[in-house]
Amino acid sequence: MIPSVLRCSEAGCGTEVPRDYRAYSCPVCGNLLQAVPNPGPLSPEQLKKIWRERRASNAPLDSSGVWRFREYLPDCPADAVVSLAEGNVPLLAGQKTADYAGAHHLWFKHLGWNPTGSFKDLGMTVAVTEARRQGAETVACASTGNTAASMAAYAARANLRARVYLPKGGASMQKLAQALDFGAETQYVDGNFDDALRVLMAETDTGVYFLNSINPFRIEGQKTAIFHLMDQLDWRAPDYIVLPGGNLGNSAAFGKAIEELAAIGLMTPIPRLVIVQARGSNALVRTVESGGSELQVVTDPQTMATAIRIGNPRSWKKALRALRFTGGIVMDVDDTDIMAAKQMLGRDGIGSEPASATTLAGIRHLIAEGRMDPEARVVAFLTGHALKDTDSILNAVGRGDG
Ligand code: F0G
Repeated sequence: MIPSVLRCSEAGCGTEVPRDYRAYSCPVCGNLLQAVPNPGPLSPEQLKKIWRERRASNAPLDSSGVWRFREYLPDCPADAVVSLAEGNVPLLAGQKTADYAGAHHLWFKHLGWNPTGSFKDLGMTVAVTEARRQGAETVACASTGNTAASMAAYAARANLRARVYLPKGGASMQKLAQALDFGAETQYVDGNFDDALRVLMAETDTGVYFLNSINPFRIEGQKTAIFHLMDQLDWRAPDYIVLPGGNLGNSAAFGKAIEELAAIGLMTPIPRLVIVQARGSNALVRTVESGGSELQVVTDPQTMATAIRIGNPRSWKKALRALRFTGGIVMDVDDTDIMAAKQMLGRDGIGSEPASATTLAGIRHLIAEGRMDPEARVVAFLTGHALKDTDSILNAVGRGDG
């Protein structure tokens, strides 16, 4: 469970602020804040056992693949949790995708098979629960669409007003429709995601609870994807964990989960994290190439994978920490590779939105270049459902009318 403070994520700073602190960055050094869990007296063996036993329980909190791991989540009474029974997604292998990548032990964990069709639900159940605990009446986010859809759904369940800021032309109609269906107020911003986030942060008054991934409670929920994966793998860590990178909140969350599990001996060996960006939106790739001390912002990010068309990722320092801790890799793939990989996922009956397919494209490159052993055990996270962006399919393969 997480005590009542948040701590600066910068190792040398460590400033603590109250859990209700709304500025999301450290008042001393300006870096992002993070929650520091205190899992209590249970041993790692006992934790593994109760997490597994809860899978068979029908209690509402146990039915969530996020809250099942509540020893590592913010302390909260069970009846105050805002949940849609999220997080229970399978681990799948596919023959054609494995052949395509040249990988002999490849699984996909499809977080797009969550209630609103993306991985955002894992973070929203925790962060919207926290918003309500703090007495917020309105929640807000800037989004390329998935955060908006997810926030709107959880806000609806929590009886909170939801306000979303979308880049004009930068979010698919399906994601917009979801946000509207769940009753969100929408505002379009001229420009891209980075502009929408800037507008939101300038306009937000203190009564509004802010739900982009700089919110540390989002990160806590998203990190449980790794806990769930390890339970599915019977606690035998894979060699690589691969995910797409946009604003880099999910990379931060996965890195945090790996560190926390490693600290209690439940993550051996440490898997290498592979963050795959779209080539036209590759701020982290450029940052690492230039030494890593300053973010190399991409001023006009481009890619067909609109979910990750982001040039100024806010969680870049946390993502760098994850790369360092895991001996990880950051790389980019171009839109042609992304769309080819996406089609291959479809051929295995899995499907995904374009951003998710960066993972398969990245693995294929790493193996072809001899940077990844074909015998390695690899888990690729798919982050959004195929129905999230149907235009990307119809534009690539036509409308089926000959
Ligand atoms: N995959 C999908 C499907 C996404 O929607 C996003 C981000 C990412 C990957 C990247 O995750 O930002 O944590 O590195 N979508 C955000 C949104 C930006 O507004 O829905 P990240």
